[in-house]
Amino acid sequence: MTPRTLVQKILATHGADRPLEPGDEVTISVDQSLIHDGTGVTVGLHLESMNVDRVRPRVAVCYVDHQLVQIGTESNNDHRYLESVSARFGLRYSRAGNGICHQVHLERFAVPGDVLVGGDSHTPMGGGMGMLSIGVGSLDTAVALATGRYVLSVPRTIRITLEGRLAPWVSAKDVVLEVLRRLTVKGGVGAILEYGGPGVATLSVPERGTIANMAVEFGATTAIFPSDERTREFLAAQGRAADYRPLEADPGARYDQEIVIDLGSLVPLVAKPPSPDAVVPVSEVEGTPIQQVAIGSCTNSSYRDLMTVASVLKGRRIAPSIDVVVAPGSRQVLQMLARNGGLADLLDAGVRLLESGCGPCPGMGQVPASGSVSLRTFNRNFAGRCGSHEVSVYLASPETAVASALEGVIRDPRRLGEAPRISVPQAFFVDDSHITPPPADGRGVPLVRGDSIKPLPVTRPVAETLTGEVLIKLPDNINTDDISPSGARLMPLRSNIPALSEYTFRAFDPTFAARAKAAGGGIVVAGANYGQGSSRESAALQTLHLGIRAVIAKGFARIHRTNLINFAVAPLVFADEAGYEAVAQGDRLRIDGFADALREGRETVVVTNETRGTTFPVRLAFTPRERAVLVAGGLRAHLASAA
Ligand code: F3S
Repeated sequence: MTPRTLVQKILATHGADRPLEPGDEVTISVDQSLIHDGTGVTVGLHLESMNVDRVRPRVAVCYVDHQLVQIGTESNNDHRYLESVSARFGLRYSRAGNGICHQVHLERFAVPGDVLVGGDSHTPMGGGMGMLSIGVGSLDTAVALATGRYVLSVPRTIRITLEGRLAPWVSAKDVVLEVLRRLTVKGGVGAILEYGGPGVATLSVPERGTIANMAVEFGATTAIFPSDERTREFLAAQGRAADYRPLEADPGARYDQEIVIDLGSLVPLVAKPPSPDAVVPVSEVEGTPIQQVAIGSCTNSSYRDLMTVASVLKGRRIAPSIDVVVAPGSRQVLQMLARNGGLADLLDAGVRLLESGCGPCPGMGQVPASGSVSLRTFNRNFAGRCGSHEVSVYLASPETAVASALEGVIRDPRRLGEAPRISVPQAFFVDDSHITPPPADGRGVPLVRGDSIKPLPVTRPVAETLTGEVLIKLPDNINTDDISPSGARLMPLRSNIPALSEYTFRAFDPTFAARAKAAGGGIVVAGANYGQGSSRESAALQTLHLGIRAVIAKGFARIHRTNLINFAVAPLVFADEAGYEAVAQGDRLRIDGFADALREGRETVVVTNETRGTTFPVRLAFTPRERAVLVAGGLRAHLASAA
């Protein structure tokens, strides 16, 4: 038998037991799904409109972790709605304070060899357990929940071979920052990262989770580790030994690309603002004054991470000039710190304790002062992500964060002497009482939809002749925070797309929404990697609501591109650099026979720039299914027509 990769083995047991090439579309079965209160209301609205009786995946969980700063009634309206959606359709409901979706899911639900489709871009964290874990938009999540199936565009597979062992004070975050340094934020587009090699056995499941978590920061579909003795140990310590199954790639399996990392050669790294791939050794930025250290997020909030911080701080004080905030990844982590004295060490040192949840990661509080620097153990440092464009955010490991917290400037943790050794405990504190199971039959459960939750915008088929004004011209690497800003004030508006649409591209042009509405819609032009970052479907829904019929870019990030297609907003690709250069804001563009070109499977069309009297080609880089979705007027209309 031909040697198979880990990914091929999992796909084969989920309905894709045939030779596949990158770019093929394949429908796979879904074992698990997760949603949260940042994107889940939209999932609930989609489920309502699909007339679903009960969700199909074996495990389906709704987490409340994002909107824990409740400055108006909207967040609790969302939570009450999600609680009723969970009971009605058959999801477990993880209540506020129980922890971050990916951390809790890794602890309590992840199973090696399963397929997880989640409504969040950091869903790949489940890859730390050897689970194929893919982040998607809300509509794709709803379809996975309703049908138990997901259409995967087969990625190429990059093997990352880990050799050796990490040096003291160097940790999993440094591994993933090193991969980011090599691949950049675009290097994983259309790929799955499959980790292997002898170095894997030196990393615990939570450390693997940290590395897999940031797959989306390369633009990758996901990342995955083998399931081995370390996996068995972790599951046994969670009281879930029965969920263990070994899983690894066959020797001699073929990969599309291979990268070798000697763990022993790595040093503490930091990602400088404003991009996760602006990676340099910590030593290069040592001495940079900081106003805040934030420790937590789904990337670095495990028991291992926070006990490392607590062990370093034991008997010490943080620098008086700064704020140090810690948000435990789960109630399990917090309970264990409380029981073993780690929490007292954090508090004695002067740390401010936040609730178990996403905390400051999506700008939910703890926005630093204008012009200041925040050092965070998080996964994103885009401008504005922390809630302000006037703050510089550096990303680093918990080790670097705590070393810097002690001095109030960025510090290399290797200066601290002997490093603490925190291993996976023999038994984790297990209490699932904050996870409410659904009733056996939820069909009679009423849905509690507060008046802040508004209907979703209506889609329509793509135009026969596409015309419109270029409303804005953007550079490379526009992220979904740029399109649909977040934070304590705006995240609750994701349940009210007309209201949130007023803030579209706010940091680039506060008049954008008004101009789009005055023009009756139009076209957005952008550079490469458009829509990177979060999976939030609001970015596509706002685009739809404002009447934008197409985005023409040099390239797109996977999840946002799919979200646009799902709502029949056409993501078109400049055939060459000259096309991008020749267009300006205010130009009026036209594509004759656009819908026919999609129907006929044409790969390029000519765009006429009516303002300048010029033309340029764009690529219709779509699969046959995606063309059908666009022509039908979005995924819902396509599925209805196929039923
Ligand atoms: Fe939450 Fe930030 Fe992770 S918003 S899910 S902690 S990326």
